[in-house]
Amino acid sequence: MTIAELTTARLMLRGVTMADAPAIQKNFDDYEVIRHLAARVPWPYPEDGARQFLQTVLPVQGQGRWVWAIFLQTAPAEVIGIIDLRRGDGESRGFWLARRLWGQGLMTEAADAVTDYAFDGLGFERLMLSNALGNTRSRRIKEKAGATFLRVAPACFVDPAVTEHELWELTRTAWAVRE
Ligand SMILES: CC(C)(COP(=O)(O)OP(=O)(O)OC[C@H]1O[C@@H](n2cnc3c(N)ncnc32)[C@H](O)[C@@H]1OP(=O)(O)O)[C@@H](O)C(=O)NCCC(=O)NCCS
Repeated sequence: MTIAELTTARLMLRGVTMADAPAIQKNFDDYEVIRHLAARVPWPYPEDGARQFLQTVLPVQGQGRWVWAIFLQTAPAEVIGIIDLRRGDGESRGFWLARRLWGQGLMTEAADAVTDYAFDGLGFERLMLSNALGNTRSRRIKEKAGATFLRVAPACFVDPAVTEHELWELTRTAWAVRE
């Protein structure tokens, strides 16, 4: 199913396609990108990892799962990251960005657009969010969005040294009144 295209000041987000596999493979196969993701992500990343990922998500695209490829408007040929939403289990959002582009506010921009769409376009009432303990960049994006910190809990990540994650809740109301 085709999902909505979202545009921000610097980015364009559209549903992933199989043609995105090479750029996803190139930008995702990086331990610094992957280490703070759930342990189910394979490491070393297989040569056909991006293709396997797309084969899993494309059949459910727009049906309980929304997976966007992120592009810079100035370089619309290359996927530079992924952001996704899922229904169920409290409803969640995840993201990653090519390392060379970190620290410019790009994921904050993408996450704002997707969060707006979750609440206004898809009717989510809340998002349950999490980040590996120590993933300060990801944590900061949640804080800035007005999410409420809930607790620390055990979790397994690609980096075996990380054994806990922080859980957050972002309600429709908190999102509407964020500063
Ligand atoms: C998490 C990730 C998507 C952030 O992307 P990004 O575009 O760099 O994020 P932004 O620039 O929008 O925001 C990062 C925030 O963290 C802050 N930050 C950056 N480095 C930091 C550090 N070492 N310590 C504390 N804060 C830091 C930034 O200043 C910014 O906050 P600010 O807007 O208040 O200044 C990116 O680092 C990534 O892909 N990481 C690997 C995958 C991952 O961890 N995904 C999340 C899983 S929960």
